Amino acid sequence: MCGIVGYVGPKQAYDYLIEGLFRLEYRGYDSAGVALQNGDQISIRKKTGRVGQLAELVTQQPVIGSTGIGHTRWATHGEPSDVNSHPHTGGNGEVVVVHNGVIENYSALRSQLQELGYVFRSATDTEVAAHLIAHQLDEEIKLGSDPTSAETCLQAVEAALKRVKGTYGLAILFREVPNMLIAARLGSPLVVGIGKGEHYLASDSSPLVGRTDEVVYLNDHEIAIITADKFQLKHQHTGAQTPSIKFLEQTVQDTELGDFDHYMLKEIFEQPQSIENALRGRLDDDEASAKFGGLNMDPQKLRRIDRIVLTACGTSWHAGLVGEYLIEEFARIPVEVEYASELRYRNPPMSDRTMVFAITQSGETADTLAAMRECKRKGHPTLAICNTVGSSIAREADGGIYLHAGPEVGVASTKAFTSQVTVLTLLAMFLGRMRHLSYPAGKRIISHLRDMPNKIRKALECNDAVKEVAQKYYQAENFLYLGRLYNFPVALEGALKLKEISYIHAEGYPAAEMKHGPIALVDEETPSVFIAPRCQIYPKVMSNLEEVKARRGPVIAIACESDDKIAKLADDVIYVPDVDEYLQPLVTSIPLQLLAYHIAILRGCNVDRPRNLAKSVTVE
Ligand code: G6P
Repeated sequence: MCGIVGYVGPKQAYDYLIEGLFRLEYRGYDSAGVALQNGDQISIRKKTGRVGQLAELVTQQPVIGSTGIGHTRWATHGEPSDVNSHPHTGGNGEVVVVHNGVIENYSALRSQLQELGYVFRSATDTEVAAHLIAHQLDEEIKLGSDPTSAETCLQAVEAALKRVKGTYGLAILFREVPNMLIAARLGSPLVVGIGKGEHYLASDSSPLVGRTDEVVYLNDHEIAIITADKFQLKHQHTGAQTPSIKFLEQTVQDTELGDFDHYMLKEIFEQPQSIENALRGRLDDDEASAKFGGLNMDPQKLRRIDRIVLTACGTSWHAGLVGEYLIEEFARIPVEVEYASELRYRNPPMSDRTMVFAITQSGETADTLAAMRECKRKGHPTLAICNTVGSSIAREADGGIYLHAGPEVGVASTKAFTSQVTVLTLLAMFLGRMRHLSYPAGKRIISHLRDMPNKIRKALECNDAVKEVAQKYYQAENFLYLGRLYNFPVALEGALKLKEISYIHAEGYPAAEMKHGPIALVDEETPSVFIAPRCQIYPKVMSNLEEVKARRGPVIAIACESDDKIAKLADDVIYVPDVDEYLQPLVTSIPLQLLAYHIAILRGCNVDRPRNLAKSVTVE
């Protein structure tokens, strides 16, 4: 969470900083700020609210400078307010800091610094970092170090970080050393963009797109000293590092809105393409299986795996649940789906033949990264199913599968979910073909997967019908989402989408389980969304639907287009193409994404920037 940008070079830094902050706004939008260095002057502008409000402030009170840092905040310590906004100054303004992460021992450090006479203006943990660096700088100077030398600044940062417990991505300006910034990472991502006679900094690569295609991802414990024409990297424990330069593949078009009103809608409609991208080059007709370039595990080792743990958060966790059903069905390997925030602190028995997959769109979710590291530490093969190339999880995993879905900007995940499910289907087929799945069965799955982009295109045709349904129910205060087997995780995901962007209370449940509690909520005002395409237990789902009708609950059904009976039972029906049962989550999730979108729009909500949420959760 929180977005960071920085620039050192010959140009006006503000232009990059503000554009970068707009692109990073999905990481947090409680407040935004910039600090610009011009000679030995550092000017700060910061404001509660969106990046647009900061831009208005700067129009009224311009700032200049060719070195600068910026921040868009998702509040952790201290409410969203002007004073709690970043950047924060340390000492008497000799140090200026933006920060992403959480300084866990901030309270103790704050007391120590207050005793030394440092005056705190904000309630943030970041101001502690700013004063602490200023204090260590002062100590260095007292020992005779040159206050105008980059080396002195670096020593001060290193000394300060030794005293900090927690996580950080930091960008720091020093008043006495113009045209330099220092960045440090532990747990919160940072990437340096290498330009010609200039350097960029960002907390993910999106601000760098169109500026440079050469990037260096900082690793934990690394500190970067960045000037216009020089970029040095130092590991806190092992010393100087040679930066490993990577190529950035995104283009500006990938992150543009085009003809759509919102990123969420754009990304919903991108799904035929994103699913095609997830399949590209991975369907192996000769072997009737899937092929992956980056699993980094030989077939003998894969064959010995007798248990799989899928770990993730949020929507990615829901994709994991679909994966559990798929892998158990096709490969007959027991699967557990663990919330990463729980797994990281639990100690479940795991044999040496357990393989772990971290599922993540951003590749930066703090809990998923920590859970993955814990499993890796114990020696399990730990792989990633990840969208963001070069992200922390992608880099630290032993191997993995990229989604190739392109950047997902809308905070509510849509195309990443269907791409994750597509990749998990491929994985289930792949593992299945090493075990019990026959050649004809593999062939059949391949042919159905190949047809999925068309099926999704067809499913998207329900948009107008969904809009009408949204119009009818958008004022409801509670929704139930009910599905069984492969459509149970879809029910959870549908309810999550609605909650996230329309702030309506919604619960997802296995349809039959409803009788053990949620049915008490059913009344004329509470719509139930039944995800009810034809399946092995379709008649049972219909009985559950009747139970809701008997209590006068309005029913919205998501049904197969071949279903000519359901319209007699449900109040409203949204049709999706017929597909095999195990592929249904891919088509049934489409109307649920659209339903959440249209309801949120009718309620006047900001679908791309829902309150209190952030796209990439890099704090615990
Ligand atoms: C946040 C996002 C969700 C996402 C979850 C996990 O809560 O708002 O959309 O599903 O994080 O993120 P990841 O990037 O690990 O998939």
